[in-house]
Amino acid sequence: MSAEPKPALGGNVLVVDDEASFRRLLRELLTMQGFRVHEAGSGEDALAILAERPIDVVLLDLNMDGMSGHEVLTWIRADKATAFIPVVMITGGATTEEKLRALEEGVTDFLAKPFKTEELLARVRSSVQMKRATDALEDAENVIIALAKVIDARDPYTCFHSDRVSWYAGHLGEAIGLRGNELDAVRKGGLFHDLGKVAVSDGVLLKPGRLTPEEMAQMKRHPVEGRRLLAGMKSLSYALDVVYHHHERSDGSGYPCGLSGEEIPLVARVTTIADIYDALTTARVYRAALTPEEALGIMKNEAEKGWWDARLLEAFRGVLSKVPDSLAPESLGRTRT
Ligand SMILES: [Fe+2]
Repeated sequence: MSAEPKPALGGNVLVVDDEASFRRLLRELLTMQGFRVHEAGSGEDALAILAERPIDVVLLDLNMDGMSGHEVLTWIRADKATAFIPVVMITGGATTEEKLRALEEGVTDFLAKPFKTEELLARVRSSVQMKRATDALEDAENVIIALAKVIDARDPYTCFHSDRVSWYAGHLGEAIGLRGNELDAVRKGGLFHDLGKVAVSDGVLLKPGRLTPEEMAQMKRHPVEGRRLLAGMKSLSYALDVVYHHHERSDGSGYPCGLSGEEIPLVARVTTIADIYDALTTARVYRAALTPEEALGIMKNEAEKGWWDARLLEAFRGVLSKVPDSLAPESLGRTRT
């Protein structure tokens, strides 16, 4: 008989093992320490529970009938919703090969049977802490992205601008071979590249006519403000170059630093192409949206003038053939980048 679950002060633990007696033992040990324990007698049951409930750590048996621990682990890592959940693999007589395989599949830690209670608790506690830290980073990122969407929405004509910039920049990044953090920087940085506009007043941001020099100066501070906002958030530092440098120009005539050519970080140059293209292909107060060919024609002239990276602009032409209908800007109106 298992103890009544207490509030999950210690975290939610999923025990996956086809031996009911072993699951019961772990349930009793962990429940006494304030963990909420969920049990799965098979890999299939485990995946069903993971789809329904927030789990902080999975204790996974390696050898089960039916779906093996390796398969369950592979599924967990492949699903975006569960990819960062710590998985501690419970092993009996696991071979070195099996352990190496589990490490390649993304196991967090091992716990060899038989184990001491203290060892189990230490392993589970550190895994839950790791999960909480990952959640906090994800929350911070979501707050920033939500804030960027609010900024887009302040001006009905820039609605979804950031989503489109992220899409264009991500696909251009892929096309030129960006990977890992750089690809993340253009995808996610695209979403919040204009974050600093939170510090630009509505009177300036929404002004339909030409900006005065003072208003333009305020507008041009948005990359600096964006960097200031992100500076304290280490988890988003990979996107700082995008936020800070997306208004630089190759000939040094951009802002805020007046960098030129390859001094401008590649991730920023990629985002700039996406940003300018989206601005041109959505309507503005004073003109209708340009067609893709018209926009590319203008950008080509500007690249020859020395503003944009001509090589990236050429690669961008290939990206445009893949634009889905859902990204069509015709109903989304005018924008000011
Ligand atoms: Fe901008």
